[in-house]
Amino acid sequence: MPIQLLVNIDHIATLRNARGEGYPVPAQAARICEQAGAAGIVFHLRGDRRHIMDHDLPELKKAVQGVLDFEMAATEEMIALLHQIQPDICTLVPEGREELTTEGGLNLASVFEDFKNRVFPAIRDGAAGSKVEISLFVDPNPDDIKGAIELGSDAIELHTGIYANASSPSAAQAELHRLATAAKMAHAAGLKVNAGHGLNQKNLAPFLRAVPHLADISIGHALISEAVYHGLASTVQAYMTIIEQVTEEQR
Ligand code: PXP
Repeated sequence: MPIQLLVNIDHIATLRNARGEGYPVPAQAARICEQAGAAGIVFHLRGDRRHIMDHDLPELKKAVQGVLDFEMAATEEMIALLHQIQPDICTLVPEGREELTTEGGLNLASVFEDFKNRVFPAIRDGAAGSKVEISLFVDPNPDDIKGAIELGSDAIELHTGIYANASSPSAAQAELHRLATAAKMAHAAGLKVNAGHGLNQKNLAPFLRAVPHLADISIGHALISEAVYHGLASTVQAYMTIIEQVTEEQR
């Protein structure tokens, strides 16, 4: 499975909402990202609608030709919207009202019974739910990977934020080791291995070199920020070049 770039376009909506004007438009940005080579788009509809809003969903569904990944908290409201929009991937994340961004992976021990009895059956309900790939955003620790396997998740998304924010090269190395171990464990059980959070043009290549079995890489804040300076299409292309170079090295 090739490594694919999925661009998280939440912060296009952050910029739009800052002035309450109708621009920039997330769906339009999504088109540019895909034309520049991204394999797909991620959006996170938060309970407080701080960036992506409900009206963005049908617009994104219409615009996105590749993979559409709906990142969400496991609420009834979001599951209903998921069935309406029918994305390719549903990435379940913990969501805290006060946080600036998702702060860590799901604590699967604490949500296991709820996910098993309520969330997974609700997502997989009916024709709309049967095709969606469920991905669980988790920290790279064996208990959470085991939990994802036991739940019958299709994929995990490894939280790379601790790696990205590591305070020293040795701390970054240690976290890469944990990420690689988690990726091997999930892959061995047949789960797809996605990853994201805090990745940028500097830390992406060492991550891709160290961690095996990667599939979809979700990148948002750094990419959208760099696009302010260099343009969205060329920034997406710069990330694609990093992915292609590392993939080429590994052939
Ligand atoms: N993956 C998940 C689950 C996230 O919550 C986020 C942030 O919205 C990302 C990936 C992308 O992180 P970043 O914006 O730091 O690239």
